[in-house]
Amino acid sequence: MSDALAPPGPTRQIRSFVRREGRITTAQRRALEDLWPRYGVADSGALIDFRALFGRTAPVILEIGFGDGQSLCAMAAAHPEQDYLGVEVHRPGVGRLLRALETHVIGNVRVICEDACSVLANRIQDAQLHGIHLFFPDPWPKVRHHKRRLVQPDFVQVLRHRLVVRGYLHLATDWEHYAQHMMTVLSEAPGFDNDCGPGRFAPRPQDRPFTKFERRGQRLGHGVWELVFRRTS
Ligand SMILES: C[S@@+](CC[C@H](N)C(=O)[O-])C[C@H]1O[C@@H](n2cnc3c(N)ncnc32)[C@H](O)[C@@H]1O
Repeated sequence: MSDALAPPGPTRQIRSFVRREGRITTAQRRALEDLWPRYGVADSGALIDFRALFGRTAPVILEIGFGDGQSLCAMAAAHPEQDYLGVEVHRPGVGRLLRALETHVIGNVRVICEDACSVLANRIQDAQLHGIHLFFPDPWPKVRHHKRRLVQPDFVQVLRHRLVVRGYLHLATDWEHYAQHMMTVLSEAPGFDNDCGPGRFAPRPQDRPFTKFERRGQRLGHGVWELVFRRTS
């Protein structure tokens, strides 16, 4: 069984996701079997050597929870000078991304099918990432579920240390309450500066492709809030 076909193992007490396998299409299953050796990062638990993984030295951007991966694929195609590491626990989405990478002949993306919290804690060394993208993370709107939100003070400090100094953290959400929570957590986090000035949300970057969940939010009439913070120390 390939790594991507194995369910993610237990990593932390409170998870930011529930395992909803959903339906894996035949094409996605085939992609998980056939394309994983080309794009997948083995679940070895070992530190990742980015130079060996991508076969070159280039700025590495991490995307956490890429969903169906279509925006990750588009970003990687638009920026061949950068390398992209996508982390997602939802295997149909991983299969979908693998198919897109093959179809569009994209060579600068690698994929991990594990809990991003454990990947960041155990597999990425400090000061390795030039950027981290967290687009439309699960908002966990019920108060009793807020603890499941990815953006928390401790996690933000892990992200900070994996970034190079002046590396950026780009967050987007269509849940106003989560946006305010993100702003509070990041504004109070040591070692980060808001690119847009204290308390200010960022304008939508022209070149950020729409994601699946963003489009869904648009259909429901949701707004979008973006935050760009940079590691200062
Ligand atoms: C609301 S969806 C957004 C997907 C995509 N970014 C988009 O905008 O369409 C959140 C995604 O994050 C993934 N996710 C949540 N927690 C995760 C974690 N700890 N590690 C990896 N992926 C995670 C979920 O499986 C889900 O696909």
